[in-house]
Amino acid sequence: MTDSTNTAGTLPTPTLHAESGMLTLEGLPLTQVAEQFGTPTYVYSKAALTSAFEAWRQALSGRKALVCYAVKANSNLGILSVFAQLGAGFDIVSGGELARVLAAGGRADRVVFSGVGKTRDEMCQALLAGIRCFNVESAAELERLDAVAGELGKTAPIALRVNPDVDPKTHPYISTGLKGNKFGVAFADAQSLYRRAAALPNLHIAGIACHIGSQLLDPAPVAEAAQKLADLVDRLAIDGIVLEHIDLGGGLGIRYRDETPPSVAQYLAPLLKVFEGRKEELCFEPGRSLVGNAGLLLTRIEYLKPGETKNFAIVDAAMNDLARPALYDAWHEVVEVVGREVPTQAYDIVGPICESGDFLARGRELAVAEGDLLAILSAGAYGMTMSSNYNTRPRAAEVIVDGEQAHLVRARESVSALFADEKPLG
Ligand code: LLP
Repeated sequence: MTDSTNTAGTLPTPTLHAESGMLTLEGLPLTQVAEQFGTPTYVYSKAALTSAFEAWRQALSGRKALVCYAVKANSNLGILSVFAQLGAGFDIVSGGELARVLAAGGRADRVVFSGVGKTRDEMCQALLAGIRCFNVESAAELERLDAVAGELGKTAPIALRVNPDVDPKTHPYISTGLKGNKFGVAFADAQSLYRRAAALPNLHIAGIACHIGSQLLDPAPVAEAAQKLADLVDRLAIDGIVLEHIDLGGGLGIRYRDETPPSVAQYLAPLLKVFEGRKEELCFEPGRSLVGNAGLLLTRIEYLKPGETKNFAIVDAAMNDLARPALYDAWHEVVEVVGREVPTQAYDIVGPICESGDFLARGRELAVAEGDLLAILSAGAYGMTMSSNYNTRPRAAEVIVDGEQAHLVRARESVSALFADEKPLG
């Protein structure tokens, strides 16, 4: 390990440093986090979360805009409270996420509710809380929402999530704006659905929304979608349907390995050009770009196992903790927490789970010994939220580092809690 660099160049987390052969996050050595809280542990940097949010805010300054953090990326109450205090809105996809936002001090009137399968209960919950907008994804959902709002004596603010049919050029599992996709309403149907919405008594048409995909590295497809939306908004105005906001979803990518994502300002520039001189409020739903590189997964090597064709470093984190490598073949940089004077060797970094798919990284050159700590980088987004208890593994602890202070924001699960709601038969 060389100071401040790894195989990909500079470390992707701005507040992560390699000083005298030792990794520190903000002012805190990661060895100390491991000693205090054990491993595996997700560790986030408050300063990195804050600066990621400020980058969005700055890039939008002078524009009427709301940044709604996509809760699905990381829904820990500690993380949500950091964003709530910074004045963020929130993009949710379930009643559970709404409950988390409210428990973390988020404002309901800054919540947008996305998702193709909202249940009646979730609609009630969101209407009673007074959320800012339902991003409606189908004709059937529109009818149901109107009925539920009527039963409660409420008016539901809505946007239609339209599918602009542009290719976001990203991994097929996380591309959402193409025709063959379950998301949004077809672009061609949008206008007539808006007319239908305008005729329903318990809806208030507030805006329009789209989200074309995730880990986007090219701003062009989003700008193309933005242009399509702007044109549609103009056509709706001719019909007398005037929208207050335009929601362009999330999607901005981050560097995991050697990607060169645009900065927030670069990403937004062509899109803001589309909306120059228009007065609608702009909304965004970024997840990954706010938390991805603000977090890492700290794990300890249990065993080194030389194999016939490759060497394995068996660690105490596994695919249940971080599913992205197994699920998407995703690359996460792996760094030694303490530099060691031993020759480097190529290792597959694997967990203890009984599946060959249980790997966190493959073929990485590391100088390590049994018992050493590793940091799996860029794990702040879709890490903990996609974790499971497979193999009856308690989920990891979560810690937010703020300067030299480490705050435990989720205790490690206990095994007894894992089956507390179960009982033997008879
Ligand atoms: N808004 C909507 C409607 C979404 O579906 C998503 C992500 C976002 C916002 C946030 O997108 P972001 O800014 O984070 O790209 N599990 C995958 C990512 C799935 C993204 C799903 N939707 C992964 O680990 O890469």
